[in-house]
Amino acid sequence: MARLTIIVKGKKFTFSAKKGELLADALLAAGFFVERPCAGRGSCGKCRVLVKGALSKLEEPEQSQLTGEDLKKGFRLACQARILGDATVTLPEEAVVTDKIFSGQLPVDKLSGPFGIAFDLGTTTVAAFLVTLRDNIIHRGHAVLNQQSVFGAEVISRMEAAFHGRSAELQKLARSSLEQAAMGLGLSEKQLQELNCALVVGNSVMHHLFLGLPVNSLLKLPFQPTDKKPRIERLKILGREIELRIPPLLGGFVGSDTLACLLYLGFAGKQKPVAAVDLGTNGEVMVSNGSQIAVASTAAGPAFEGVNIECGMRAGPGAVSAVRRGKGGKLDYEVIGGGSPRGLSGSGLLSLVNLLRREGMINASGKLAGGRFEITDRIFLSQADVREVQKAKAAVRAAFEVLLEQLALKPADLDELLLTGSFGARIDINDALELGLVPGVKKSRVRVMANSAGMGAGMMLADEAFAFAATLAQSVRHIELYADRGFMDKFIAHMKL
Ligand code: FES
Repeated sequence: MARLTIIVKGKKFTFSAKKGELLADALLAAGFFVERPCAGRGSCGKCRVLVKGALSKLEEPEQSQLTGEDLKKGFRLACQARILGDATVTLPEEAVVTDKIFSGQLPVDKLSGPFGIAFDLGTTTVAAFLVTLRDNIIHRGHAVLNQQSVFGAEVISRMEAAFHGRSAELQKLARSSLEQAAMGLGLSEKQLQELNCALVVGNSVMHHLFLGLPVNSLLKLPFQPTDKKPRIERLKILGREIELRIPPLLGGFVGSDTLACLLYLGFAGKQKPVAAVDLGTNGEVMVSNGSQIAVASTAAGPAFEGVNIECGMRAGPGAVSAVRRGKGGKLDYEVIGGGSPRGLSGSGLLSLVNLLRREGMINASGKLAGGRFEITDRIFLSQADVREVQKAKAAVRAAFEVLLEQLALKPADLDELLLTGSFGARIDINDALELGLVPGVKKSRVRVMANSAGMGAGMMLADEAFAFAATLAQSVRHIELYADRGFMDKFIAHMKL
């Protein structure tokens, strides 16, 4: 055995690790997870950690993903390096640090129960929302990374892992992510005694992995969930055992998170045509013509979360969130939290692509002049990044077009267009409209709504809302995009910038 010392935010933890064990697996076994967006294939470079000690020699993926400077400093890829003897790893803060995405008005210590916790179990982020059950008010939210990302950033790699016998591990990681998110709500011992109920929403894959259901039917045509009915179960969390509500799925990959969005955004009560998109790692599109609601899930891919982008990163401290042309032609950019930029977030990526498109440096077919554009000496946009943006935006836009067509609507008919989700809520409306990510409507009709899935999940902690959502789910039409003859043509047409 080897001694593995882990340093997180200046604190040291020591564990035993098997010699020959993959560094990422040893970290996970010790309870520290490092994201593996490419599922450990060595192609994304996002699992880099600072390490000293006896490790396996550098393999090709590390040589291509790490710069000479990285290697000199001692960075290695946790998904490639193996432990050969004692080693000390310093984890980057973003690998373990959580990001609060919602904050209520009242301090938590002033609240009294009974309480419920609504969870939005996202592919990338898991958010917990604290709800007082007597008035159904959502007071606070706390988000953490989904620990399942050690099996890859996308749902496909996680389903494949589950299919190949790793289902129990994925379930454990989902439950551990919920626990971590709930801990961040800061409930006291006394308040925990008043915690009565939890509710979890998520896309169909997250739902199945959380419940330990087989994912086989989601992996092959016609991509149907094993079980989509609502459930009432028990959940052990924060040292308590409480009621757990699972709302129904809508079909295919469209899960209860979309149902929660429909509920929160008030789709059932809209008399006029309205559309929305919940944009995160996946994109769920919703359209109503005033009498029928149609939904579809589109494989937008994780580009909007900064994954598969050369200098991409999640929207967090140090991420460039917007790029504009300033006075005198100088490039201006906004950095989340100020300070030096460390990478491009999804919204930064979109605004940079839109800026270069407007200035003619990216043409309609997506060709980037010179193949690369640098915004600092370390942060750049590559031709491959532009292609990722094109694919993601074409997938979302084509889904909108299919749903509008199915409901006999034109973009101009839409009374309202709502953008939500971890990426949707951060996006610049001009960029979304000008790049054609969403149908062309007047800017005044576009609204950004944060955390719709979490807010809808919070609403469903009330009995009437849970029952109403179950009825609503039965009336929603789920459109299978793979079966729509026009989808691929629309996708290709909307690859244009
Ligand atoms: S390079 Fe290690 S997870 Fe992608």
